[in-house]
Amino acid sequence: MTYFVEEASVETVNARIGIDTDPRLAEIMAGVVKHLHAFVKEVKLTSDEWAVAIDFLTRTGQICTQERQEFILLSDVLGCSMLVDAVTNRRPKGATESTVLGPFHVENAPVREHGAVISLDGKGESCLFEGRVLDLEGQPIEGACVDVWSDNADGFYDVQQPGIQPQWNNRGRFFTGADGHYSFIGIRPVSYPIPDDGPVGQLLGHLGRHPWRPAHMHYMISAPGFRKLVTHTFVGGDQYLSSDSVFGVKETLIAPYERLEGAPTLWRSPFDFIMMPV
Ligand code: BEZ
Ligand code: FE
Repeated sequence: MTYFVEEASVETVNARIGIDTDPRLAEIMAGVVKHLHAFVKEVKLTSDEWAVAIDFLTRTGQICTQERQEFILLSDVLGCSMLVDAVTNRRPKGATESTVLGPFHVENAPVREHGAVISLDGKGESCLFEGRVLDLEGQPIEGACVDVWSDNADGFYDVQQPGIQPQWNNRGRFFTGADGHYSFIGIRPVSYPIPDDGPVGQLLGHLGRHPWRPAHMHYMISAPGFRKLVTHTFVGGDQYLSSDSVFGVKETLIAPYERLEGAPTLWRSPFDFIMMPV
């Protein structure tokens, strides 16, 4: 039997993992203990500071509801969501890059016709979003589901304002035809702060960080035989591109926004998505 001593803390704790433990769980938990102990030793964490951390995590859990996931937000602002995404979704050159899903995706948005309007509240500057879903060889992908969502012109998603915004405002699913083309009319998205009235917002405040995200349109694209792509396109020139509170920006995801004259929409944002096989 080994009693707990500081010098052998990691070995002592990890030696208790049972031999019948799922090997991947054993690997992950041994890693958690190794890095957690190293962190405590590195910063010489005091009991009072650990109590503050426990209180913070408790409040993070307590504010979670069906509509609000504060732990995902915490993972996002710590860059952990982007890191897990990077490790999980390594893509070959040429494939469209992924980024954070965020907490505002809703399953089963209405399937709409090509060119349909998804902005239902009459607010914002209209924008035609169009492009193609292609494979790595540049061939169109037929039957791809292009699931899109964005905030409204006030910077809120419909699910943040039930009863104020129409349900499914700025959301929709589009299926590509044989030419791989998709198109819909939304609004030019605006930058918005992530929910900052909870423990994560307080933490950002203590760290001198702002909660803003640069304007973006969300996409989740799936097609049989291809890896699901969760990504955004960003509005070039946004003041928060280089300080996104959740680190979601990638250079390749900054899309053109062309100002139109005499057209049905004020803006046009063309973007092709390149999918990789499973
Ligand atoms: C979003 O883009 O919807 C989002 C992403 C991460 C945290 C909060 C919101
Ligand atoms: Fe968003």
